[in-house]
Amino acid sequence: MIRIFGDKIFVGEFDLEKIVENYDTPFYIYDLEVVERRFIGLTEMLRNYYENNGISFKILYALKANSNPDIVSLLRILGSGFDAASPWEAETAIELGARSDDIYITAPGLSKKDLMYVVDKNININIDSMTQLNRLIELGYKKTIGVRINPGFGAGFHRYATTGGEYVKFGINLNELDEIIRYAYRKDVPVSRIHSHVGSGIMDPDIHLRVLERLLNISIKYEDINEIDLGGGFGISYDDDRDYPFEDFLKKSLALIKRSLGDKEIRILIEPGRYIVARSGLLVARVTDVKKAGDKTIILIDTGFNHFMRPVLYGARHRVLVLRKINWEKKIRADIYGNLCESTDFLGLNIDLPKIDVDDIIIFMDTGAYGYSMASTYNLRPLPLEIIVYKDKIKLSRERFLPKIKINI
Ligand code: LLP
Repeated sequence: MIRIFGDKIFVGEFDLEKIVENYDTPFYIYDLEVVERRFIGLTEMLRNYYENNGISFKILYALKANSNPDIVSLLRILGSGFDAASPWEAETAIELGARSDDIYITAPGLSKKDLMYVVDKNININIDSMTQLNRLIELGYKKTIGVRINPGFGAGFHRYATTGGEYVKFGINLNELDEIIRYAYRKDVPVSRIHSHVGSGIMDPDIHLRVLERLLNISIKYEDINEIDLGGGFGISYDDDRDYPFEDFLKKSLALIKRSLGDKEIRILIEPGRYIVARSGLLVARVTDVKKAGDKTIILIDTGFNHFMRPVLYGARHRVLVLRKINWEKKIRADIYGNLCESTDFLGLNIDLPKIDVDDIIIFMDTGAYGYSMASTYNLRPLPLEIIVYKDKIKLSRERFLPKIKINI
């Protein structure tokens, strides 16, 4: 677990000060125990509300949130299935021991080669368009399929993370659904699953209930549909420890399912990414410079939007701690910038901080989801280290990585 004791921060049983002495910054550090607890906690809630009431379920962890091999292996061992957004994500799960049956690919714009991979490996797919369907038929896909619909509305913590509603590229419009289902049936790839993911970082369970209602209504119209995939999008608060109210959602959704389905049996799938991994990770960076710009303090660190895009892309604000100064009085309001040659390279604007010196260590909280997985090698800076902790064990999970070029600094 990640805990703060006085001025110290512990990851599992390790004092982060010691870790910083042994590994080069910048790095991501993940606590596997957090991932384990959140996955098991969610499984227990689903058992309690769904399985104990006759509704089967499956969790498909969304690999795009974090595909670190140690995290993916752990989740596989715990019984998770996987939501993949590309053949490479699917292959990562397969290489780490997942069965192709437990992998579901859902993505817009899949190419013919992408779909050849899906057919070859016989993995599950939720089609995003008629083109995808026709290509699968052409390639001789042998499984039943799912259809991702756009229910006509979307939600999310930012409009860039909203994937349903008007003018979005995702899914099949409701008015085309009937035709597609009939066509797929005639072509021997019957639709057995209906899918929707309307956005990410949702905190209000009513959104998922609305999606569920749509999907239930569709599923009762078609005999072959026996799986409902609600997508992901279950949020966390980045200001404090509040999480998506799963109990509330499950309680209400159980009543809705019972009311709508009658005798029909349906398996519910969910695709959480952020909810499982965000809280497990920290991004740890070192202050390389402190400057003044007018009356503003500017802090520069040895990472940037190449390693952590959420602040620039969505204006996301992650809690920031300063190692050894956690409880110090916050005397300055500063902007934290990275080391890229880009003026938008900020990781936090107007952050209240204690007095900062060069070589201080800055910690960005809740960066286990969409941190490393969205990182790049812009400016040819390597991808950062990834460190894994599990209770009293620690290891380097992935080295710094830069394709081809190697220098030793
Ligand atoms: N399923 C599908 C089909 C998705 O597109 C996504 C996320 C998920 C599941 C998982 O969503 P989650 O439970 O993690 O919210 N990069 C952004 C979020 C965009 C996610 C896109 N799709 C971020 O940094 O917050």
